[in-house]
Amino acid sequence: PDSIPFYGAHQAGIITPSQNFICFAAFDVIADNVSDIRKMFQKWTTASASIASGSLIGNVNDNPNLPPSDTGEAAELSPSRCTITFGVGPSLFDARFGLQNKRPPSFQELPLFKADSLEPEWCGGDLCVQVCADDLQVAFHAIRNLARIARGTAVLRWTQEGFQRSAQADPKSATPRNLLGFKDGTANPDATDSTLMNEVVWSQSIDGTSWMTGGSYMAVRRVRMRIEVWDRSTLSDQENTFGRHRHTGAPLGSKDEFDTLKLDEVDSKGQPVIPTNSHVALAHGDGSIQMLRRSYSYSSGMDLKTGQLDAGLLFISFQRDLQKQFIPIQQRLANNDLLNEYAVHKGSAVFACFPGTTEGGFIGETLF
Ligand code: HEM
Repeated sequence: PDSIPFYGAHQAGIITPSQNFICFAAFDVIADNVSDIRKMFQKWTTASASIASGSLIGNVNDNPNLPPSDTGEAAELSPSRCTITFGVGPSLFDARFGLQNKRPPSFQELPLFKADSLEPEWCGGDLCVQVCADDLQVAFHAIRNLARIARGTAVLRWTQEGFQRSAQADPKSATPRNLLGFKDGTANPDATDSTLMNEVVWSQSIDGTSWMTGGSYMAVRRVRMRIEVWDRSTLSDQENTFGRHRHTGAPLGSKDEFDTLKLDEVDSKGQPVIPTNSHVALAHGDGSIQMLRRSYSYSSGMDLKTGQLDAGLLFISFQRDLQKQFIPIQQRLANNDLLNEYAVHKGSAVFACFPGTTEGGFIGETLF
C-alpha cells in the first residue's frame, strides 16, 4: 500500500513506521485572531487528505485565469506513504489569541540544557508541519503547498529536510544507521503495541487536557555532528561513546542487537563493560522512562565559516509528557554523555501534536 490514511483517531506520522524522507517546517502565525488560524487548518486538512491519497489539491485545471490550485510537481506520482502531522508550540498560547488558559500545564519551552549551543534561527515556532514520505519530491510538494495555503496567516520560521537509508537500499529493513555509523532506533518501544503506546506516546484524558487526548507531544532537536572529529576517533572510543558495538548494534558485552543492556556487568579490571557515561547507559537510566524516537539524518551542505559538513541528526521524539519523559533524559545526557564531544544541539522546539480527525472535520478542531 502506497498511501497511509490521513484520517483516523490519531494523526499519521507518529507511530507510523518511518518513511525514507522528512520535510519539517516550523511556522509563525502572523494573523491576529483564532478564526483565521481555524480557517487555515481547515484548508490544510483538506489539502493534506488529498496529498496523502495521491490526488492533486483542488480542481487544478478549471480556470485558465487563476494560478493552479496545485503547484503540480507531484502530479501522477505515487503518494509514497506521505504523512502530514501538525502541532502547535507553546508560543501559540501567549496573549495574542486568547488561548492562554488552553495551554497544557506541563507544556512549555524546554529549559536550556548544559550542552546546548542553540542558534535562534533553528528554534521554536507557533506551529509545526512534519511531512514524511518515501519520495522527497512528494514531501517537498506537501510543505510547499501548505506554506502557500498559509499565506497571510502563517509564515515559515525554519525548515529542515532529512533522510535515512531508503527501503530500496535495504529491502530487509534492518534498523537504520545514523551518520556516525551506528544503528539508531534499536531500543524504541514497540509501536504496534497499543497498550504501550497509550502509556508512552498518546496523551490520555486523565492527563487533564481534553483537546490533546489522542495527541502526542513532540521534541525536535537539530543536532549537528562533529563528523570530522568522530572520523578520527578509534573504533573502541566510538563504541564506548554509545555503549554498543558498531557493526552489530549489540550492547557492549552482548552478541545480538536486541539483547538487553547489562548495565551492571564489569570487566576483569572491575570497570563497567558499558561505560556509565555512554549514551545508552545514560539514556536508558533505570529503564523506567521511555519515548518513541523518530529521527532522521540531515545534511545541509557545508558550514561556510569552518569548511566542515553541516550534517547530523534531526532528533524527533514523541511522548505523552515532555516534563516526565524528554526533559529528564535530555538532562542526564546534557550533563554527562560521552557523545557531547561529537554532537552539539543547534536547534530546539517542542510541539503539541493534535489528535486525529475524521472526514468532514479538521486537524485542530479540538482547540480552535
Ligand atoms: C539510544 C544515537 C540523541 C534518547 C541511542 C542509540 C543510538 C543513539 C545509536 C542506540 C541504539 C538505539 O537504541 O536506538 C543518538 C544520536 C543522537 C542522539 C546520534 C544525537 C546526535 C538523543 C537524544 C535523546 C536520546 C537527544 C533524548 C533526550 C535515546 C534513548 C535511547 C537512545 C531513550 C534508548 C536507550 C535504551 O533504553 O537503550 N541513541 N541519540 N538520544 N537514545 Fe539517542
